[in-house]
Amino acid sequence: MRNTTTILCWIILIVSFLTLGSCKKHDKEIHKLDVKKENWGRTKDGQEIYLYTLSNIHGMQIKIINYGAIVQSLFVPDKSGKYEDVVLGYDRLDDYLKDSPYFGAIVGRYGNRIARGRFTLDGVQYQLATNNGPNHLHGGIKGFDKVVWNAEPIHEKDKVRLKLTYLSPDGEEGYPGNLKVAVIYSLTNHNELEIEYFAQTDKATPVNLTHHGYFNLTGHCKRDILEHQLWINADYFTPVDSTLIPTGELRPVEGTPFDFRQPTAIGARINDPDEQLKYGRGYDHNWVLNQADGTLKLQAALYDPQSGRYMQIYTDQPGLQFYSGNFLDGSIVGKGGVVYKHRYGLCLETQHFPDSPNHPEFPSTILRPGEQYHTKTIYKFSIK
Ligand code: GLA
Repeated sequence: MRNTTTILCWIILIVSFLTLGSCKKHDKEIHKLDVKKENWGRTKDGQEIYLYTLSNIHGMQIKIINYGAIVQSLFVPDKSGKYEDVVLGYDRLDDYLKDSPYFGAIVGRYGNRIARGRFTLDGVQYQLATNNGPNHLHGGIKGFDKVVWNAEPIHEKDKVRLKLTYLSPDGEEGYPGNLKVAVIYSLTNHNELEIEYFAQTDKATPVNLTHHGYFNLTGHCKRDILEHQLWINADYFTPVDSTLIPTGELRPVEGTPFDFRQPTAIGARINDPDEQLKYGRGYDHNWVLNQADGTLKLQAALYDPQSGRYMQIYTDQPGLQFYSGNFLDGSIVGKGGVVYKHRYGLCLETQHFPDSPNHPEFPSTILRPGEQYHTKTIYKFSIK
């Protein structure tokens, strides 16, 4: 009798262990590292566009399309564990094709402005399109945000990656050299969106690649971004002229509305009577990141006190363009029918300084044959 009881106990124990094990397995099956691919329409000239959904074990999701290498949505948890979209964009390809202020795109060949679209390199003068007043902006009329990229998912042990490649032919948008570009988006199990940029050229050319995501950590754009607290590890910024071209000066942030060395609400000083804020219609400037020595460093952070969402930015780049969504004016209806009103999104673009080809004193943006362009930025999400 005693023996039968012992055997019964053992059976119960083994069965409960097995059930527990299978529950765990089921949990992991709900949230696991994964990439899904679905059709997302065609461009006007018939090229197939796909939407790739990258997911991690916690349920964080990033959706990317191979048009413009655009991050179409990014779902991260708030302090109560609720997953919501924290980037601006559209629900349909047609809207991206029609008009987009670079929502979530990779910008290039040169992120931000080049004065009068002109630069001289190795004694040759180049003229690019002037698509922003008198200046060249974000690679020109058809920059990397408007081209179709090849996409290839890559699975690794603790991250999922999407590799996007594009060959920018010699002379495209006026730039010299065939430029082979690769951008790898990775989603890790630590709730990080990693972006790596690679490029190689067969003629010397300026290159400055960045990601133009519009963040709003409230989730599905519930409010504007003025209460978000921003920290930027920068003692200097590059003041601009009235057309947003850097004057060449590195100006201390001390005592100005550009001092974000302590986390500060974006709205706290945005309407101060400051000439630089007037030129930018708010913040639209490049910060000179401290201790930028080409290695990956924590250089900025964004926090929304209401949702508790916290985003840290690690980068190896010397500059950060902070744009406070000043041109958003309510004329764009975005995902889920949300109207993107003034300052409903903000960009934190890690990059080299604007107009560097015309400022030999700025860190160089010239890539030469035989060199490998490789930069990395991580947007890491958590709660506080
Ligand atoms: C960048 C520029 C801004 C603006 C936005 C897109 O951040 O610096 O001036 O062009 O892109 O509207």
